[in-house]
Amino acid sequence: MADLKHPELEDLLREDRAFAPPADFQARANVADPSIYAEAERDPEAFWGRLAGELEWSRGWDRVLDWQPPHAKWFVGGKLNASVNCLDRHVRGARRNKAALVWEGEPGDRRTLTYFDLYRQVSAFANVLKGLGIKKGDRVGMYLPLIPELVISMLACARSLRDRMNDMKASLLITADGGYRRGQIVPLKQVADEAVADVPSIKNVVVIQRGGQGMPVHIKEGRDHWYHRLMQEAPLACDAEPMDAEDMLYILYTSGTTGKPKGIVHTTGGYLVGTYATAKLVFDLRDDDVYWCTADIGWVTGHSYVVYGPLANGATVFMYEGAPDWPQKDRFWALIERYGITILYTAPTAIRAFMRWGTEWPRRHDLSSLRLLGSVGEPINPEAWIWYYHFIGGDRCPVVDTWWQTETGAIMITPLPGVTTLKPGSATRPFPGISAEIRNERGDAIEVGGGLLALTRPWPAMLRGIYGDPRRYVQQYWSKWGSGVYVTGDGAKRDADGYFWLLGRVDDVINVAGHRIGTMEVESALVDHPSVAEAAVVGRAHEIKGQAIAAFVTLKDGVADGTRSTKDIANELKEHVVKKIGAIARPDDILFTPDLPKTRSGKIMRRLLRDIAEGKALGDMTTLADSAAVEKLKANYEEEYG
Ligand code: PRX
Repeated sequence: MADLKHPELEDLLREDRAFAPPADFQARANVADPSIYAEAERDPEAFWGRLAGELEWSRGWDRVLDWQPPHAKWFVGGKLNASVNCLDRHVRGARRNKAALVWEGEPGDRRTLTYFDLYRQVSAFANVLKGLGIKKGDRVGMYLPLIPELVISMLACARSLRDRMNDMKASLLITADGGYRRGQIVPLKQVADEAVADVPSIKNVVVIQRGGQGMPVHIKEGRDHWYHRLMQEAPLACDAEPMDAEDMLYILYTSGTTGKPKGIVHTTGGYLVGTYATAKLVFDLRDDDVYWCTADIGWVTGHSYVVYGPLANGATVFMYEGAPDWPQKDRFWALIERYGITILYTAPTAIRAFMRWGTEWPRRHDLSSLRLLGSVGEPINPEAWIWYYHFIGGDRCPVVDTWWQTETGAIMITPLPGVTTLKPGSATRPFPGISAEIRNERGDAIEVGGGLLALTRPWPAMLRGIYGDPRRYVQQYWSKWGSGVYVTGDGAKRDADGYFWLLGRVDDVINVAGHRIGTMEVESALVDHPSVAEAAVVGRAHEIKGQAIAAFVTLKDGVADGTRSTKDIANELKEHVVKKIGAIARPDDILFTPDLPKTRSGKIMRRLLRDIAEGKALGDMTTLADSAAVEKLKANYEEEYG
């Protein structure tokens, strides 16, 4: 990466640099006093109760926590509504006419919705949902581009429905005619029509017009409805349904170590408290901020830190529909300049791509409105941290590297920017009230050194279960060291100052550009193809994406009969995986091999495959059935991808 050799960076790249909070930042920060850690440690329940008290409850809770390891109930007996906390609360107060959503589409069209606008549209759409017969227990699916209607749909569901979820038994699908990506219009409705054909439970489809594209859209009478027509007729007032603190808010599917994604269940009260508190304290949100989290709303980062956390804080949230390199590689920096964005929260994979594109792109723009930078999704290497700090933050903005997971719901390990001295590459310390440890396999806590990251106390935004699989919840997360200790699946080390350094997954989950993918999932998708006999998938290091997907495939006899090139077959398999899982799971490399390396007992040796994919010298092969075949496999891989 050319920019790392940049003369401006030499001084910053010295080892052991530490960055104390800048004095002017600290002077105005929401938290500048480290005693918040001691307060939370003394009585974690009182600490969370204090923050929960800043939200609006229609009935107060009787107990902050009921903990029957590994099952937690938070704010027991309390009632509240997420949409009321994100909207009504602000509309009744001084934020009524404040911008809630500032949005720019990829072609450059712009929209701003105040808190009052958003409140009215969410209320109207909640009435539309009721009018379509959607009621408690029904499921709503959303297949939408990053447009304000996505936020409206989510909050309208939170306002009026309980127990909704987005699996394939949905009765309503909300979609759009299309969405922009790199200048092309993705025909979302057409794709949705194909999907809905296989889902008999869908009774209604609501279609949002993504502005005058004049694209031909097939409307199926009786099933499909234009959003803008329904909204014209919808009453504007809609009382919010009081939810129990433990009522389900949503389910998000995420990858695990088996072939099947897990539906992670989040509930209303604890989740809202967790996202509200972390958004406020980690991003130091103030009323004059323009806050931009670049994540897609379909992932947990978008749920927690585009929608619920910042809106519960009454923040101005910026949203951008499209690609960072459209029409040019300076789009993000142009947006920051145009909207005066003050807080930017993005992923290391994006930062590494920006580094590769070069400093001339950010240099073209005035980025002086920025005051805080955030990173999430994968370990950030110190070089990327320093580049971000210097070229984007102008040596002025603290960088908060935030570690968390779909399961944790909210940020767990992170600096507090007005308090914490930063070390590039370290997520620093557990958030107040969170208890994290490094443990060895046996479960002994390691004070200084490396091991497995564990969370040793419940927290409000924690997952409440895996949808439809209560046994897996216990086994997967709470069984390794007793029922009160949560196993994260991440490796980490702790230094002598008590700082945490995240090292990546220790299981068969890989992290491609900040997105979690189970190797088993990709393997299942590959063997689902009629030409494939067997497949093994591993992650290999990748300069920009963190990790890339390498697949080793054995074809069925007679497939490679010379009528098609192996390249064509590989492309067909890649497309098959994209169709089954999504574009993010497209294998980067596919290597065909007549046999996969196996131990004498028949287990595929993934460690070896990883070494092959990373071009490393092959280690111990004594348990291997056929080591000559492995040498050959390695030579083939190097020839193809080396
Ligand atoms: O391995 C960790 C990595 O992402 C995993 C969680 O992925 P997901 O559930 O998709 O949530 C991503 C957004 C929170 C973790 O197990 N991860 C996430 N943030 C970091 C990280 N690794 C290192 N540093 C981070 N800041």
